[in-house]
Formats: sequence, structure tokens, C-alpha cells
Amino acid sequence: MDLPSFLWLWRFAAWSMGLSLTAYGLLAISGLILWGDRRHQRPRPPWLAPVHRTLGISLVVLVLFLLAIGLIGTLGYYGSLGHSWHLPAGVTVVLLVLTSAWSGWQIHPKQPQMRRIHITCNLLLALGFLAVSWSGWTVVQKYLPP
Ligand code: HEM
Ligand code: HEM
Repeated sequence: MDLPSFLWLWRFAAWSMGLSLTAYGLLAISGLILWGDRRHQRPRPPWLAPVHRTLGISLVVLVLFLLAIGLIGTLGYYGSLGHSWHLPAGVTVVLLVLTSAWSGWQIHPKQPQMRRIHITCNLLLALGFLAVSWSGWTVVQKYLPP
């Protein structure tokens, strides 16, 4: 496959990553408000949890989309996977996002351990996003015109 047809793919990846980081930031803000309202036993605005969930679903879709672009693009170009540590970074981020979404959905006053899993995943996710952005940015250099 020729390079120009590939560049748009990685440009797509960069844009989706921007959207993912925005979604993560908004999830962190809405999550912190949910957490603060619970701790101080304030009533929650009724729209806050649904907004948090919807943003969460968007993040899951974006990250799965990035995984698909990465796998298809790499297989199309090399015919094999595993050309840098971007692969483990990407797989880790996808697993963390899926675990976070699953545990978030189980949060219930009777199940405090799910809240702990949700919050731990999301803190690790900040590191995961850093790793995947940095390694993605490094490998994308190969495709950019000099
Ligand atoms: C991956 C997608 C995500 C989904 C599907 C999701 C879903 C949920 C759900 C359903 C709740 C429970 C809301 C309720 O009590 O009704 C929740 C709570 C929360 N989420 Fe998320 N979430 C996601 C990502 C995140 C992220 C990225 C962060 C932070 C960076 C975050 C931080 C929080 C916090 C702090 C709470 C409040 C827990 C508490 O009540 O103390 N979530 N989330
Ligand atoms: C959550 C975000 C991301 C995930 C889950 C992800 C996932 C993947 C995966 C699994 C691969 C195959 C790697 C291999 O087998 O060696 C890949 C390749 C690639 N990704 Fe990503 N990626 C993400 C973000 C990014 C970003 C932000 C960029 C930069 C714009 C990027 C650029 C690339 C490039 C250029 C390749 C080709 C690998 C190479 O040439 O060695 N990715 N991605």
C-alpha cells in the first residue's frame, strides 16, 4: 500500500485520540462531581450520571475504533503485528477502558469494591493514555513526509 493512503489513516487516529482525551477529561470532571456529591451527601443533578455514562460509552467506542485502525493499518502495511511497544500500550488502554466501563456500570451503594475498581482503572488510564499517545506519536513519524 502506498504511503499517502496511509497518512489519512494516522491523521484519523490523531483526531480520534484528541476526542478520546477530551472525553476522558469530561469524564474526570463529571466523575469528580458525582464523587463529591456522594461524599457530602448533596443531591445530584439528575442529568449528571446519564451524561457521565453517555460520555463513557463514547470513550469505549472511540478506543475500540482506534484499536481497529491500528490493527488494520499495521496488518495492511507490514502483514504482521508487534512492531513497537505501541502494541502493548494500546492493548492495555483498551482493556482498562473496558474494565472501567464494566465496573462503572456495577457501581451500587451495596458494592463499594466496584467503585474502587472503577476509580483505580481510571487513574491507571491516565498513564495508559500518556503511554499510547507518546508511542503512537513516535511510530507515526515513520509515515510523515520528511
Ligand atoms: C469508560 C467509561 C466510563 C463509564 C461507562 C463510566 C460509568 C460510570 C457509572 C455508571 C458510574 C456510577 C454513577 C452513579 O452512581 O449513578 C460512574 C461513577 C464514577 N465515575 Fe465513571 N465511567 C467511565 C469512565 C470514567 C472516567 C474516565 C473517570 C475519571 C477519570 C470516571 C470517574 C468516575 C467517578 C469519580 C465516579 C463516582 C464514583 C462515586 O460515586 O464515588 N469514570 N462511572
Ligand atoms: C487508544 C489509542 C490507541 C490504540 C488502542 C492504538 C492501537 C494500536 C495498535 C494495537 C496498533 C498495532 C501495533 C503493532 O502491532 O505494532 C497500532 C498501530 C499504530 N498506531 Fe495506534 N493506537 C492508539 C493511538 C494512536 C495514536 C494517537 C497514534 C498517532 C497518531 C497512533 C498511530 C499508530 C501508528 C502509526 C501505528 C503503526 C505502527 C507501526 O508503524 O509500528 N495510534 N495502534
